[in-house]
Amino acid sequence: RKEEVLKSLRDIGLVPVLRAESVDKALALAEAIAAGGVTVLEITMTVPGAIQVMRKLAEQRPDILIGAGTVLDAETARMCILEGAKFVVSPALNLGTIEMCHRYSVAVLPGALTPTEIVTAWQAGADVVKVFPASAMGGAKYLTALKGPLPQVDLIPTGGVSLATAAEFLSAGAFALGVGSDLVDAKAMAAGKSEVVTETARKYLAIVKEYRTSKRA
Ligand code: 3PG
Repeated sequence: RKEEVLKSLRDIGLVPVLRAESVDKALALAEAIAAGGVTVLEITMTVPGAIQVMRKLAEQRPDILIGAGTVLDAETARMCILEGAKFVVSPALNLGTIEMCHRYSVAVLPGALTPTEIVTAWQAGADVVKVFPASAMGGAKYLTALKGPLPQVDLIPTGGVSLATAAEFLSAGAFALGVGSDLVDAKAMAAGKSEVVTETARKYLAIVKEYRTSKRA
């Protein structure tokens, strides 16, 4: 169910944005991230053979919540949904994509940047709005500024999120964090160091846990 998917995204607090040059490299990255305890992955449509990656992961790791990323249009959204994507993410706002996801009751997270874009996405039925590129716009400060007038809108800052800034984004009210290159580290993988990726995944989870615990205290 869509509500359960959204709850999982929030609980895990992290959406790794998987970009890779091939199916095999993507699967190796996915394994390394999952080994760190992160059970959600956004497979971007820029990965050659992205659909194959989604299929293989669904087979090999049914415990991982798999979503589709960099979905730019309704046709791609439909294809991904039929392949089992549990959520659909986009760097931009495309109304047709939102409608398609609603047709299948699949969580949709369009990208937006300015207050006008964010409210437009929210009114159009976004379940969460991906604020992209968040760091280029000032990072956590930008998120805090948005949350002032828009406290009701769930936001996932993405773009330049790092271990150094993760806690600030959470304090600024992020629903979860979208994390690409800082975690999905192709260089470490190329150097045969998948354990670096696994360790980074663990560190992100620890930051989320620490933030949530401190908030409850
Ligand atoms: C992306 O679309 O690749 C994401 O925004 C990730 O960005 P990052 O690599 O800066 O985290």
